[in-house]
Amino acid sequence: GFYIGSAVAGGGHHLEQDYPDPFTHDGKYRSILAQQFSSVSPENQMKWEYIHPEPDRYDFAMADKIVDFAERNDQKVRGHTLLWHSQNPEWLEEGDYSPEELREILRDHITTVVGRYAGRIHQWDVANEIFDEQGNLRTQENIWIRELGPGIIADAFRWAHEADPNAELFFNDYNVEGINPKSDAYYELIQELLDDGVPVHGFSVQGHLSTRYDFPGDLEQNLRRFDELGLATAITELDVRMDLPASGKPTPKQLEQQADYYQQALEACLAVEGCDSFTIWGFTDKYSWVPVFFPDEGAATIMTEKYERKPAFFALQQTL
Ligand code: XIL
Repeated sequence: GFYIGSAVAGGGHHLEQDYPDPFTHDGKYRSILAQQFSSVSPENQMKWEYIHPEPDRYDFAMADKIVDFAERNDQKVRGHTLLWHSQNPEWLEEGDYSPEELREILRDHITTVVGRYAGRIHQWDVANEIFDEQGNLRTQENIWIRELGPGIIADAFRWAHEADPNAELFFNDYNVEGINPKSDAYYELIQELLDDGVPVHGFSVQGHLSTRYDFPGDLEQNLRRFDELGLATAITELDVRMDLPASGKPTPKQLEQQADYYQQALEACLAVEGCDSFTIWGFTDKYSWVPVFFPDEGAATIMTEKYERKPAFFALQQTL
């Protein structure tokens, strides 16, 4: 009843220039993914720009392969994601649609994508990163909220629930590990939605951490307050990046600190009853998104580029 997951590097995205899709082409990657994890999350392949590349065309090829792989290996799948401000196709962001049309586009998308995998998805990140650091809705960046107003969030959950009544439906974000204005905003919004009978089932923290900052020591307390609302909680995208020395190789001390962060995150989730899904955002430094998005930082996962187990790997293993 406790699921340890990894993001699946299915190609495209930050690896585009460098690699031909690790999930398909790297046998070692595939076998570790199959053996070490009981849950998988497509890192990109269920995002709009991949799964809905043209107005009237969906592309389920990679998402299907990942879901099939998970079933063959007796793994859960976390679906990611349906309503987000990022990685939307150009046709959508640049399109000249009326509010009525946009609403229909979102309804059709959620119904089609969630419906296709109905019964096969453990948890869906329905809404991703809708608040900024101050706890304000991203009314400018997020096309849905900007064009349709905040009420669209509830609709997204309702449509997803109709399409797959068995999937647990989540809000997911970063920098909400601790108790702060951003996680407070979720806490308030979710209570309102629950009062209105909207099918919201979970709150998840991504967990993109850095050894530059202290570990968010109130993670457990934060998860617990959502747990007490009757929600499932989860850690969905854990990685712990660090400033790399000139050699490019982390020092033993850095690796210990990283292991300690991984361990604390897992302990927090294990301590909270309804936190039964713990996912790391990739398991090898070889394909991690971190060096591409955070200049001079890296080595954020639990295995080296050569698949050697780092202290963080053993820390998780021992904690379980
Ligand atoms: C990242 C992927 O790892 C990259 O491959 C992609 O280029 C950009 O997105 N929050 C999320 C994830 O919810 O979808 C992001 O994934 C990382 C931050």
